[in-house]
Amino acid sequence: MSFYQIWIRSFADGNGDGIGDLYGVYDRLDYIKSLGVDAIWFSPVYPSPNADYGYDISDYRNIHPDYGTLDQFRKVLDRAHELGLIVLMDLVINHTSDEHPWFKESCKGKDNPYSDYYIWRDPRFKGEQMLPPNNWYSQFEGLAWEYCETRGQYYLHVFAKKQPDLNMDNPKVREEVKGIMRFWLDMGVDGFREDVITYISKNPALPDGNPLLPMINGLPHYKDGPRLMEYLQEFREVAREYNAIQIGEAPFTPVKTAATYISGPDRVLDMMIQFDHMTADCIMTEYVWHRFMLTKLKKAFTKWQNAMNGRAWNCLYLENHDHPRVISRYGSEKFWRESGTCLAASYIFQQGCPFIYQGQEIGMTNIRLRSIDQYNDVSTINAYHTFRRHRSPESRMRWIHVSSRDSARTPVQWTDGKYAGFSTAKPWFRVNPNYKRINAAAQEKDPDSILNFYRRCLALRKETETLIWGSYKEYYPRSRKHYVYERSYLGDRYLIVCSFAAKETKERLPADWAKAEKDLVIGNYPFSTSDILHPYETRVYHMR
Ligand code: GLC
Ligand code: CA
Repeated sequence: MSFYQIWIRSFADGNGDGIGDLYGVYDRLDYIKSLGVDAIWFSPVYPSPNADYGYDISDYRNIHPDYGTLDQFRKVLDRAHELGLIVLMDLVINHTSDEHPWFKESCKGKDNPYSDYYIWRDPRFKGEQMLPPNNWYSQFEGLAWEYCETRGQYYLHVFAKKQPDLNMDNPKVREEVKGIMRFWLDMGVDGFREDVITYISKNPALPDGNPLLPMINGLPHYKDGPRLMEYLQEFREVAREYNAIQIGEAPFTPVKTAATYISGPDRVLDMMIQFDHMTADCIMTEYVWHRFMLTKLKKAFTKWQNAMNGRAWNCLYLENHDHPRVISRYGSEKFWRESGTCLAASYIFQQGCPFIYQGQEIGMTNIRLRSIDQYNDVSTINAYHTFRRHRSPESRMRWIHVSSRDSARTPVQWTDGKYAGFSTAKPWFRVNPNYKRINAAAQEKDPDSILNFYRRCLALRKETETLIWGSYKEYYPRSRKHYVYERSYLGDRYLIVCSFAAKETKERLPADWAKAEKDLVIGNYPFSTSDILHPYETRVYHMR
């Protein structure tokens, strides 16, 4: 099964106001179907003040007026179902918006029905000086605590100030979550992608974190917390009633822990979005960037493939709305088509479910805006300011160019026409100036395009049991140029060869493959059969 992710604001504008919406999605459902995917995951489409573009929700049971109405959503859902596509919503329940009515009430005092919906604590005092309850930093801006005058207490926000964390230890909050799940499942939605779900149970003592670490010093006290399993089991019961899919986002969760959530008949989640392979050019987060290292990527791939083999199902992905474009990171803009197709083959044929993020299938690349004021994303802006003491503005901008989430949030490039065919009006965010060269319409016509390569890969995967069920084996893990892996099932064997070198290299094949009669079933260079691999060449062999 494979998924297509929509980050709606930049997907397609259907009503001509410059903002992507459900009308635009409706019109593109056939396109999505044509890719060969089975499911759509919608990043949040709910009302939100957009402090974190939808991940700060102010009403869980409605659609943001920018994107349409509940009726329009039902139309999209029904049409998707007619096309055989299932639909997942984003369930963001670690936090709400500070403009959610629950939070507005909660702020008012300690004795109303919503008082305990959030994580409130008294200040600490050092002499006269008022300090937050502990030393945690927020992952997005400043300290993790914000003082509320009316209530005389601090509230916790692991992300932006406008994203107060819910108090999941309060049974009423968990009932609210179940109600929200039911609301969408009753409408016919097929499941959820669950945002930072492994953060929802905090160590109630809220102890200080390591003072030397920035941004994530509280992590050990709110990730994979003491009551997480219990809460996930509760939510699982609701999902079970509807046979709904649950995919949990789990930043920094080690592979062993992940397996405890997603394996076995009593699993509490079906799959997990992990981050290991997204740090092949950085340390923990893209904002601490280093040169891309293929061996690091391969190690992460193989670690998860081996750990989940026979136990659980991996989420296979290289892009989403939280990461810059992968060609610009792990591939090469110079060898744009070649590296875009090679990257596709490097992950789609692994064991698990491939995810494709809007625009990835046409090889969209990073945008490079001149000044920080042109960026929208709260974490980008925060990173820019956090490193002000260490680096010059120019060097920080270079960093933003390689690391910003906004690179994944530029309007999808549909045509080479005005505003890249995304809208008839000026889009809400800048279109990448390379849309004349990189756009879906041009690639529809070209059989060798990245778009058609994705289609070929997904089709092959779908019709090939070995590529679905087969075991995984990696060759030459220390090679800094090639990623070579095999899938095999009941004696049937496929070998996927990916060159990450920007020059010609000699192909190296395992001995039995070198000798065997084999067919080249997919490749990204025409008539390529010699033992020389071109830059970013990929070949998928099937043993006869
Ligand atoms: C997840 C989302 C990300 C969001 C964060 C806070 O990581 O994918 O976009 O900013 O959670 O909700
Ligand atoms: Ca619109």
